[in-house]
Amino acid sequence: MASTDERVLVAGASGDTGREVLAVLRSSDLTVRATTRSHADVDELERLGADEIVVVNLFESADAVRAVEGCAFVLCALGTPPGPRHLVGGKLVDRTGVINLVTAAVGADVDHFVFESAIGVGNSSGRMALPGRLLVRATLNAKQDAETALRRSGLGYTIVRPGKLTNDPPSGEVLVGEGGDTLSGSIPRADVARVMAAAPFTPEARNRTLEVVSRDGLRGPPRNVVAVDWNYDRLGIETERGRLEP
Ligand SMILES: NC(=O)c1ccc[n+]([C@@H]2O[C@H](COP(=O)([O-])OP(=O)(O)OC[C@H]3O[C@@H](n4cnc5c(N)ncnc54)[C@H](OP(=O)(O)O)[C@@H]3O)[C@@H](O)[C@H]2O)c1
Repeated sequence: MASTDERVLVAGASGDTGREVLAVLRSSDLTVRATTRSHADVDELERLGADEIVVVNLFESADAVRAVEGCAFVLCALGTPPGPRHLVGGKLVDRTGVINLVTAAVGADVDHFVFESAIGVGNSSGRMALPGRLLVRATLNAKQDAETALRRSGLGYTIVRPGKLTNDPPSGEVLVGEGGDTLSGSIPRADVARVMAAAPFTPEARNRTLEVVSRDGLRGPPRNVVAVDWNYDRLGIETERGRLEP
């Protein structure tokens, strides 16, 4: 499909969720800008449908400014690579990189910022099993700081908190909770990508923090499940299985 002047930044496009986001956006009319830290990823990201690619390290605020320039929307799927920093902390992209992007987005007049956080962050902590929570506690704290910065930024936002991520195909049946102590379980990255991409075009998702798991991935009793009528039309993807039912 031909691209419009409306540009969306996929931050962390070279990662596993980011690639799924590119796949979802492929049939949209948006101009898609992808980030990676490695020049070696550029050809593949082009093949996956990115119209523009920026090689950036988002620990650098100048790189964040370059990445968001001219973008109406930001879909942020950044994450710390596996390793001890999830436990011991230090400089984490989940805090520093995301906050650099939020700050740059404010300066660039971005309309809507979608942040992939996690069930386990902030008031959803009780919905992640304690052993897992302890192992990634530094990342959870970093994401909580980034969530707070985004809520205070004045930007339109959607914070999407997925459960454990899988690489399964999209289920199309996503359960959404709101309020923190809502859902436990897992969800395919492909489902998360659909929700993230639809959020800027879904007025009822604006300025909300939403927990998400797939219906199949739900573990334990759900609470405060909400219905969100995601606007998939703009993305050009089929909608029947994407409608969310409480
Ligand atoms: N794993 C789970 O079960 C789970 C559950 C809930 C939430 N989450 C969260 O979901 C998000 C996505 O996870 P994922 O596993 O799909 O992603 P991933 O494959 O780990 O990808 C992370 C992305 O972040 C980029 N990145 C890391 N540091 C960067 C930096 N300094 N500057 C610029 N880019 C940087 C990576 O770029 P490069 O490719 O260049 O390294 C990559 O594109 C993460 O925030 C994760 O914490 C994960």
